[in-house]
Amino acid sequence: MSVLRGASVRDALDSAGVAIAASGSESPRLDAELLLAHALGVDRTALYADPRREVVGAQARSFQDLVRRRSAGREPVAYLLGRKGFRHIELEVDARVLVPRPETELLVELGLELAPGARVLDVGTGSGAVALALKQERPDLDVTGSDVSETALDVARANRNRLGLDVELVCADLLDGVGARWDAILSNPPYVAERDRARLPRDVRVHEPALALFAGRDGLNVIRRLVAAAEQTDAALLAIEVGEGQSAAASALVQEAGFGSVESRRDLAGIERVVVGRR
Ligand SMILES: C[S@@+](CC[C@H](N)C(=O)[O-])C[C@H]1O[C@@H](n2cnc3c(N)ncnc32)[C@H](O)[C@@H]1O
Repeated sequence: MSVLRGASVRDALDSAGVAIAASGSESPRLDAELLLAHALGVDRTALYADPRREVVGAQARSFQDLVRRRSAGREPVAYLLGRKGFRHIELEVDARVLVPRPETELLVELGLELAPGARVLDVGTGSGAVALALKQERPDLDVTGSDVSETALDVARANRNRLGLDVELVCADLLDGVGARWDAILSNPPYVAERDRARLPRDVRVHEPALALFAGRDGLNVIRRLVAAAEQTDAALLAIEVGEGQSAAASALVQEAGFGSVESRRDLAGIERVVVGRR
């Protein structure tokens, strides 16, 4: 694609939007705006304040490179910007971690309902999204994040330190070695079925970590192990994010594990997204 050097903000956005749309993005205009604001070092609203500003020099080259990586390479916008907003915090993200999704904020909302001082474990914390957002909103909670990936934990630790939040981060395969003394276990585990791999958008399939995405033939392998392990803990609340169409199967697993009261919470698209068990 060619974004004319010296083009106005408006023209640069128009031509970038066309290139990004042609590569299959569902939000080409927004992508272009985020990338241009990043290249110019301004807030996105500044693009509207001054649409005739010329995009020149190093900033034009940087924008052209970002648009090429988004359109030809299908790199996620969050990786190109190096950050992603999640509830009230901004997380630094790169290809070592999943890009936090808005629907995962449901797990944080459940955490907000906990009693003061509750001990909470975020299993598969990735960038630290759930654990850090929860601690930021409920400093009274005793929050730990865990992940089996040391490289993901490096990202979570950097986010924790930058945000100055008192969250413990530990490396563990699900609940192995993390003890049983939890009041609540929250998790957005990998849940994509292997058979759905080819159907994933290319930016997800190629760029996001496979360890964060895939969980066996039906996508429930990690959830099965997590529920079985959670049964052996003190946790009175178990909340697990699931994929579209997995809510009934996951609810049955949670119920069989002794969580007598089970409900599903829907995301903004109306999909049953989080299975919540209480005992
Ligand atoms: C879907 S991502 C969620 C990341 C983050 N919680 C979020 O919502 O943005 C799943 C995370 O689980 C981690 N994971 C995968 N298998 C695991 C296991 N057996 N034990 C602990 N963490 C695991 C992955 O490394 C990844 O960071």
